[in-house]
Amino acid sequence: MRHMPDLSGRDLSRRLFLGGLAGASTLALGACQTGGAIGAARGDWRDGFANAPAGGFTPARMRLVEGRAPAGLEGALYRNGPAQLHHGDVDASHWFDGDGMMHRIAFSGGEVEHRAQFAQTNKRRQEMAAGKFLAPGFGTEADPDFAVQNPDDTNAANTSVIMINGRLMALWEAGSPYEMDPVTLETIGPVTWRDDMKGMPFLAHPKVEPNGRVWNLAVNGPRVGVYRISKDAVLEDFTLLDVGDAAYIHDWTMTERHLIILVQPWIQTRSLPPFIDSFDWRPQNGMKMLIVDKDDMSKRRWAQAPARAFYHTGSGWEDADGTIRFDAVFYEEPVLGANGGAGMISGVYEGNEIPPGELSMVEIPTSGDARITGTAQKGEFPQVDPRLRGKRRRLTVMPTGAAPGRPGETGVLLRDWESGRNDAHIFGPSHMVEEVLFVPKPGGSGERDSWLVGTALNIAAGANEVFVFDAADVSGGPVAVWRAEYTWPLGFHGTWTA
Ligand SMILES: [Fe+2]
Repeated sequence: MRHMPDLSGRDLSRRLFLGGLAGASTLALGACQTGGAIGAARGDWRDGFANAPAGGFTPARMRLVEGRAPAGLEGALYRNGPAQLHHGDVDASHWFDGDGMMHRIAFSGGEVEHRAQFAQTNKRRQEMAAGKFLAPGFGTEADPDFAVQNPDDTNAANTSVIMINGRLMALWEAGSPYEMDPVTLETIGPVTWRDDMKGMPFLAHPKVEPNGRVWNLAVNGPRVGVYRISKDAVLEDFTLLDVGDAAYIHDWTMTERHLIILVQPWIQTRSLPPFIDSFDWRPQNGMKMLIVDKDDMSKRRWAQAPARAFYHTGSGWEDADGTIRFDAVFYEEPVLGANGGAGMISGVYEGNEIPPGELSMVEIPTSGDARITGTAQKGEFPQVDPRLRGKRRRLTVMPTGAAPGRPGETGVLLRDWESGRNDAHIFGPSHMVEEVLFVPKPGGSGERDSWLVGTALNIAAGANEVFVFDAADVSGGPVAVWRAEYTWPLGFHGTWTA
C-alpha cells in the first residue's frame, strides 16, 4: 500500500477548500490560463473530442451565467475522461483509449473554480515523448517497441473517479487505480491494494455503501475478483469467482445483501489484437446474472435474462420477499464498444451513429428467469442518490435527448420508478450533456432533497458549463449554470465530494 500523507478529517477539508480558494485568488491576481482544447473553438460538437492542452487547465473561475448559486452547495465535482484522442493527424482507434484527464470543479461560497490535469501514466509519458500512440488498448494495437510487463504499463486512467478516505483515484478497468492529489491533481501513482496484487484490474465502477464501504470487481476473462475495501481504504477481502464466460464486464450492481454480476453475451472468444476484435456478440446466450451473497460468497445463484448489451447500471435493492430490482441502460447490441466511437473521434458521425440505450428496470425473482421492462426513455450514465445505494429508492437521473447528426445527449431526465413519471429539461441541440450526480442538500433526507449537478459542452457558447438542478423540479430548468471561458473534451464519470 502506498504511504500517504494524512488527508483525513479537518486537514482534508482545509486542503480541498482553502487550497481551492487560494487557487482562485491567484487567478484573480492574473495567473495565466493554459487555454482551451487544442483545435477547439470550432463551435461544434467536435470540440468535445479535441485534445486538451498537454499542461492541463490551471485554476480558473467559472462565470455564473444563469440563476443563483444555491446556498449550502459546497464541495467538489471530480470528473475523468479521455482527453488525448489525437497525435498529429492520427486519431485514437477507440474512445476508451485516450489518456485520462481529471477535472476538479470546486464550489465554495457561491464561487466555482475549474482546473484539470492529465493522469501522468506510463502510457502517456511514453506516447507524448514519441508523439504517437504506442500502448495496446481497447481498440488500439500495440507498437512493437512498447514494452508491457504489467497491466499498469498500458493504464490510461481515463474512465472514472473514486475518493476513498480523502484519496482521489482515477479509475480505468484493466489495471490499478491511479492516485492523484485531490487539490493540485498531481499524479501520485498506481495504487496497490495488497503486496501480491500489483497491477490487479480494478473496474471503473466500484459500489460504495452508504456507510462508506467499497466493493468492486477485477475482471480477467471468466475470472472475477471481488474487492471489499473499508471506508479507510484498506483492503478487507479479495475473493475470486468464476462467471463462466469471458464477457465484457464494465459495470455491475449491488443490493444491501447481494452482488449482481451481469454476464452479457458479448464474449471474448479468442485473443487478437486489438482487444476489442476478440469479442463476439452471441445473443442466443441471453444475459446471465450471477447473484452472490456479500456475507458468504460461496452462496451463489444464477438468473437468466434476455440478451442485452450494457455499459451502466443505476443501483439495486431487494423487496421484502427477496426479489431483486435494479435499473440499467440497455442496448440491442454493443455498437459503441465494438466500433470504438470512430465517428466521434474522427468528427465524421454520419455512418458511425450510435443507437441510444433505453433506461430499463430488471426484476430478478427468488427463482426463475429475470424480467426486463423498458421505460422508452433514452440516455446513458444513470445515477442515484448516494444515500440509497443498495436500498429501495424512487429516482434515477441521466442525460437524455438526442440531437440529429451528432453524438451526445441534450438534456437531463429524472425518472420516478414508483409513479412512472419522467421529469425532464432539454437544453437543446446547443448542449452535449454529461453524467449528472445527486448531491444531497445539507439537512435533507429525501431523494428530492438533492441537487443534481452535471456538466455540458455548450456548443453555441464555445465553452463547457456546470449546471445545478433541484431534484424536486427538473422541468423548471437549472437553478444555476456556470460557464468556463474555454472548452474541454467530454468525459465519462465523476464523483462529488462534500
Ligand atoms: Fe462507465
